[in-house]
Amino acid sequence: MPASMLGPHNYVAVAVLVLAACQAHTSAVSPLAGCTVPRIAAEFERMPATQRPADVSPSVSVLPTPVIDDAETIAAGDCIRPLLLAVAETSGDPRLKGSGDWRRFSTQFFRSEHGRYLEVAGNPLAAEYMQSEDGPTLPVGAVVTKRSFQAMQSGVMVPGPQFVIEKMPSGYDERVGDWKFTLISDAGVIVGDTRGRDGDKVEFCVECHKSAWRQRFLFFVPPDYRAKN
Ligand code: HEC
Repeated sequence: MPASMLGPHNYVAVAVLVLAACQAHTSAVSPLAGCTVPRIAAEFERMPATQRPADVSPSVSVLPTPVIDDAETIAAGDCIRPLLLAVAETSGDPRLKGSGDWRRFSTQFFRSEHGRYLEVAGNPLAAEYMQSEDGPTLPVGAVVTKRSFQAMQSGVMVPGPQFVIEKMPSGYDERVGDWKFTLISDAGVIVGDTRGRDGDKVEFCVECHKSAWRQRFLFFVPPDYRAKN
């Protein structure tokens, strides 16, 4: 099925399939509410109903999202990772097949400045990703993926977008070291590929990554969360 035919209902189906993996943290809030952070959920519950913020999707909200600590992030990340992998599978992007087995370059999910929790992993050709900051250039076919989840006001964790880059042959896009950028929505829909289908929708990736030209157009995992291997 083409990715363009996949919609939120597919996402619900995916969520239901993997809920079993998250049962330890099951909440009754919604069928997608597989993973919650108990501390945030309890704070939300204690708040008088009239003072509670709307529990809308973090992707459309301008509300500051709850901050969870490292231990909570590890637990939430382990809970929601199967769902993120299922969302990647739903996208039909062949490069992400089996990406659950890829080496993780981050020791755990970490909070981005935009309030998303991120994990970076790569295929075998991207093995030198960590060293490539000031070492070797990654080979053609190297794929690095950044998975994300976000915290609802109620403490429920939901998938965020997934960001994928692939090293392409020389000449593909000289602006950014021949990296191709792909955005996969939180529902598993491929939004666009730079220099490919719906490339205009992901041009913003290039605009920002261009600024990292001193480090081969990559930003890397923050030092505190870099895997040692
Ligand atoms: C405003 C700047 C900005 C934009 C726009 C942006 N990124 Fe990034 N990207 C970053 C930063 C900063 C990091 C480092 C991790 C973090 O904090 O998010 C990063 C990391 C990554 C990584 C991990 C590899 C690495 O070390 O660079 C991937 C993959 C990635 N981005 C893909 C994308 C894709 C795909 C898009 C467009 C859909 C995109 N990025 C748009 C700033 C940006």
